[in-house]
Amino acid sequence: MGNLLLSWDLASARWLVGVVYLVVSVCLLATAVALQVARRWPWCGCKVCRAYMSGSWARDFASVSDWYAHLLRRSPTTRTLRVHVLGCTVTADPGNVEYMLRTGFDNFPKGKGVSAILSDLLGGGIFNVDGDAWRHQRKMASFQLGSVAVRSYAFRIVSREVDARLMPLLARAGDVGMVVDLQDVFRRFAFDTICKISFGLDPGLSAVRGMAVSPLLWKMKRLLSVGGEGELKKAIKVVHELANAMIRERRSLGVDNKSPDLLSRFMSAGSGTNTNAMDHDNEDKFLRDIVVSFLIAGRDTISSGLTTLFMLLSKHRAAGAAMRAEATKASDANAMTYEELKALHYTHAAVHESLRLFPPVQFDSKFCAAADVLPDGTYVDAGSRVMYHPYAMGRMPSIWGDDCEEFRPERWLTGAGATFEPVSFFKYPVFQAGLRVCLGKELAIMEMKAVCVAVLRAFDVKVVGERAVRECAPVFAPGLSASIQGGLPVKVSRV
Ligand code: HEM
Repeated sequence: MGNLLLSWDLASARWLVGVVYLVVSVCLLATAVALQVARRWPWCGCKVCRAYMSGSWARDFASVSDWYAHLLRRSPTTRTLRVHVLGCTVTADPGNVEYMLRTGFDNFPKGKGVSAILSDLLGGGIFNVDGDAWRHQRKMASFQLGSVAVRSYAFRIVSREVDARLMPLLARAGDVGMVVDLQDVFRRFAFDTICKISFGLDPGLSAVRGMAVSPLLWKMKRLLSVGGEGELKKAIKVVHELANAMIRERRSLGVDNKSPDLLSRFMSAGSGTNTNAMDHDNEDKFLRDIVVSFLIAGRDTISSGLTTLFMLLSKHRAAGAAMRAEATKASDANAMTYEELKALHYTHAAVHESLRLFPPVQFDSKFCAAADVLPDGTYVDAGSRVMYHPYAMGRMPSIWGDDCEEFRPERWLTGAGATFEPVSFFKYPVFQAGLRVCLGKELAIMEMKAVCVAVLRAFDVKVVGERAVRECAPVFAPGLSASIQGGLPVKVSRV
């Protein structure tokens, strides 16, 4: 009996020690995990951080951008705020923007903080690099995009895509009284156009009827309709394979510096100038990263800009009528020349005004290399991020006046001739500003104007459904560039 009791006691003591050991281990593990989380996600009890962490901002605002715009407008002394839990300074101050993008440029690179997924996708492409790698690509790309030959080639492509693809598609939708998702229509149009300009290849996504496209481009179409960034990771390998295939296809069609598409020009410039450094594999990788960068630069930004512009015009009928009248006065012919298009000041103003309210890239952040003080007095830690916010800046009364939330193209026009008057890009960083200002801005504005003129002359475009009721307050899906959640349903009728 005594032995039995002793062995029971020993057994229970062992059990007890085991339990204590387990509990202590779990506690230690939990503490380690909590410390890790706390290090990555520093706790802060301030009002902004609490609202951010709990998501309570979503009760009053359609998007984080609207919430930031609200906070920045209310910021009493500066137009800058800190989101401590993100280690991020957000600014809507033009002086700060100029400092980050021009005067203090070297201290505000892109940095390594851009998400791993983006780095995987963009590789060493111009969007994703700093220093010499960026300088080299910037020089090449600005030389090519700035050349008269590329500009007139791009204009011809845009005009042809509008006439042969976009207009027939809208006409057919109008004739059968169909509701179409204008955002989807513009995405296809912008993708076809940028593929032709960049690579001289035609995916044919916006053709009225299905046409025979090569399997390569068909796969590309499928891939690029992948929406969320979560899915991108899976697609990256295939995107790269496809970009490589495009490069091979382009090579097999023959490359010389007289071919007007950008890829051919990069290819011949690369082989001409890089005899010393670049071997074949590296050159292909370099070209592949350029291919992907241009696809991303040229598709979603333009379709986003066009979609929100037509959303605004559906409500602001007088502005649409003024654009129509301006085009008719400028030219009887349906197809305008580049010079005629450039001279449309009201249309130019309407495009800029719409991009002010709905910039396709709503915010952009940089890495602060060494601790710094921004011109408005805000101290920024070394290694933290500083974000300038074009969406919020377009809604600041201190920059645009009390009517900043109104769509009013006239604010860009001056003098008796109602001439377009640009503002500083540091106040209006829709295309970024300073040393890394967008290289496709002229092309983008030209493309948007060409679409507006052609569509408005032929059609009346009305937003329908719930979106029309919500009076131009779109909810944007998360992503690199702003796209309207659920698209933009419209009805088209001939004028
Ligand atoms: C409405 C249309 C467009 C908007 C709003 C826009 C906006 C921007 C913005 C905000 C950036 C800076 C991005 C960053 O550094 O993170 C940028 C850079 C750039 N954009 Fe655009 N973009 C548009 C169209 C285009 C088009 C059509 C092209 C090419 C054909 C293009 C080519 C580029 C390039 C190459 C850069 C990189 C510049 C550099 O880092 O030096 N963009 N754009």
